[in-house]
Amino acid sequence: MRTTVIRVNPDDFDPEKLRPAARALAGGRLVAFPTETVYGLGADALNPEAVGRIYEAKGRPSDNPLIVHISDLEQLKAIVSAVPEKARILMETFWPGPLTLILPKSEGVPDETTAGLSTVAVRMPANKIALDLIRLSGVAVAAPSANISGAPSPTCASHVIADLSGRIDCIIDGGCTQVGLESTVLDMTVDPPAVLRPGGVSVETLEAVIGQVNADKVSEVSGNEVPKSPGMKYRHYSPKAEMVLVSGDSDRVAETINRLVEKNRAKNRKTGVLASSETRALYNADVVLCPGFRNSPETIAASIYRCLRDFDQLGVDIIFSETFPEEGIGLAIMNRLRKAASGGIIRLPPYSNKNGGHKKSRFSNPDEGVKP
Ligand code: TXA
Ligand code: MG
Repeated sequence: MRTTVIRVNPDDFDPEKLRPAARALAGGRLVAFPTETVYGLGADALNPEAVGRIYEAKGRPSDNPLIVHISDLEQLKAIVSAVPEKARILMETFWPGPLTLILPKSEGVPDETTAGLSTVAVRMPANKIALDLIRLSGVAVAAPSANISGAPSPTCASHVIADLSGRIDCIIDGGCTQVGLESTVLDMTVDPPAVLRPGGVSVETLEAVIGQVNADKVSEVSGNEVPKSPGMKYRHYSPKAEMVLVSGDSDRVAETINRLVEKNRAKNRKTGVLASSETRALYNADVVLCPGFRNSPETIAASIYRCLRDFDQLGVDIIFSETFPEEGIGLAIMNRLRKAASGGIIRLPPYSNKNGGHKKSRFSNPDEGVKP
């Protein structure tokens, strides 16, 4: 299949430029488009054959349901059968934006879209290209991230081209995305609402608006437990390289990583380190990539997937990564890093002085080094 790429300047474009892509969507075809979080791979959410093509193009397991994207609240009627009060408040506050709500589905939504669940995920993205495309197509748009299943989500059109060119009809290149991690998925069918995937809207921000939110389940799915959000059970967001997280005081993390780098070099493996800009100078790996600044976690979130893809491009065999405090967007950053880390996490004990106190790390991090 020949994939058409349409280049659109996100800051200044004529919506008519999106018309061919909108027509393709309405006709049951696949179109990749930018959102504020990551690129999505869209199809008409109410057309089971079109939705089936998404699973085929991505190689996605068919038991992993999709998010339905809308541009107008009017579209909700065809998608969900009820909007509880708290959900309405969240829509008013955070839409358009990186928040996905799980609600009871309308009858017209096919099983292919929801993977047979009685609920449906819905969000209104905060990206003008996405909103114009949905509006012009006249359909609600089911869209997972536009990557081959299991790979890091695409944050630039070049990532989508690398993964899906030749497998889909059209890619709209609207520049790189801003948030860089996927939307927060919040289950509104339980009380208190439960975070199934941390993302662009933090738990703290949600709680400031609707009170208690249950975020206990965000870390890992273990054993035979059936996850409420089926996507959470799959290996995800992974670079091809092996990846190991190292958590603790920053000086000790650097010492440990540098030692591991030497060991792997001795085995002729190309080594990579994922570090914050503040700490990058501490490392001696073959490739050191910095998504952003530790004291500005949004910058880390925005570029972390790009860094994971770049390690693979550069032929790195093993990546060692710093960890980040799990507050605000940091919860989503660590959730994705843990899922990407095939080699698990090394937790270093904190420094201690004679009085049993802790030597202050160069960059203090409440998450690091304190857990068993
Ligand atoms: O930011 C985003 O959310 C991006 C952009 C394109 O909007 N989309 C995205 O879609 O990340 P995807 O398919 O990669 O992830 C959707 C997640 C999966 O973990 C899936 O299991 C969960 O949402 N999900 C979808 N429908 C659900 C439902 N009815 N109940 C529980 N979880 C659901
Ligand atoms: Mg995805």
